[in-house]
Amino acid sequence: MTGRIRQNVRGLTAYTPGEQPRQSGLVKLNTNENPYPPSPRVAEALARLEPGDLRRYPDPTCAEIREIAGRLHGVSPDRVFVANGSDEALALCTRAFVEDDGTIGYFDPSYSLYPVLAAIRNVLGVAVPLPADFGWPEGPVPDGSLFFLCNPNAPTSRLFPKDVVERFCAAYPGVVLIDEAYVDFAAGHCMDLAVTLPNVIVLRTLSKAYSLAGIRLGYVVGPADLIGALFKIKDSYNVNRLTQAAAAAALSDAAYMRRNVARIRATRARLGDELGRRGFEVVPSETNFLWARPRREAARAVYEQLKALGILVRYFPGARTGDFVRITVGSDEEIDRLLAALPEGKDT
Ligand SMILES: Cc1ncc(COP(=O)(O)O)c(C=O)c1O
Repeated sequence: MTGRIRQNVRGLTAYTPGEQPRQSGLVKLNTNENPYPPSPRVAEALARLEPGDLRRYPDPTCAEIREIAGRLHGVSPDRVFVANGSDEALALCTRAFVEDDGTIGYFDPSYSLYPVLAAIRNVLGVAVPLPADFGWPEGPVPDGSLFFLCNPNAPTSRLFPKDVVERFCAAYPGVVLIDEAYVDFAAGHCMDLAVTLPNVIVLRTLSKAYSLAGIRLGYVVGPADLIGALFKIKDSYNVNRLTQAAAAAALSDAAYMRRNVARIRATRARLGDELGRRGFEVVPSETNFLWARPRREAARAVYEQLKALGILVRYFPGARTGDFVRITVGSDEEIDRLLAALPEGKDT
């Protein structure tokens, strides 16, 4: 019966999400979730919802969220599109901006969903290799229909400077989607390029800095024509009522989010120093995770030893990533447990 399945789907290697075990008591540092709860306004907003309200479909346009996000970024709501997690927005972009003979570009290494989205769309995925230090790749700007430019990049945690990103976008012939999933933890952002350049869309998520991975809410800001194209092809009611209520409340309390970000950044600095003392080479991070290379022991072995102790970090096999582990910056208590499992002076 496999003949009934499209050929590219038959040959597809699906995206592997980080493990989400049901077991409690684990130290979960593998999917870049926020260790702190969301704004108290989220609980208040959900408590105000009557179960009877759920009889009705949600607002198909997410008007309230678009107004709040528009105010946050100084753009009009018709430049904002809201999605069921930023992953949905990424997939919609592959459908809206890429012809069947088009190409989708991305850096290597970068968010491992991008090549999978190109394969699902059955178009050529073109990986642009990053240099050994994971900084900006010099060289000609590639041709293509859509480029996923993750900044700060995952899993490498580095932030590319805005001026080089701007030059890249200005020269790229297709649409550049700047994936700023981790930008709230960084020293800079590129949101204004979504206003000044006609081919740039900037993506944000509530999954990381806003502590709301569980509700699935992402949004993009961009030129009105590109945003309008996403509206045309989306599912009618792509963001549910509970999510819209929670997201509007969280976005209206950006100050709370920034306080959590400050705590995470402080923990990030401590974790970086401590890992350095434990024999890891740590890439300077502008995200809520560290990309770290154990110098003596194999990265996979470190991942497995930690897992045996109930501490989950992320390991990506592969030529560019297999020597590293990606460690989410958890709470100070979680990081203490991690560090206790990696004793100082241990020959990692
Ligand atoms: C770079 C990057 N973009 C997008 C996403 C997806 O975020 P969301 O939870 O909004 O779908 C992730 C999730 O880990 C990510 O790392």
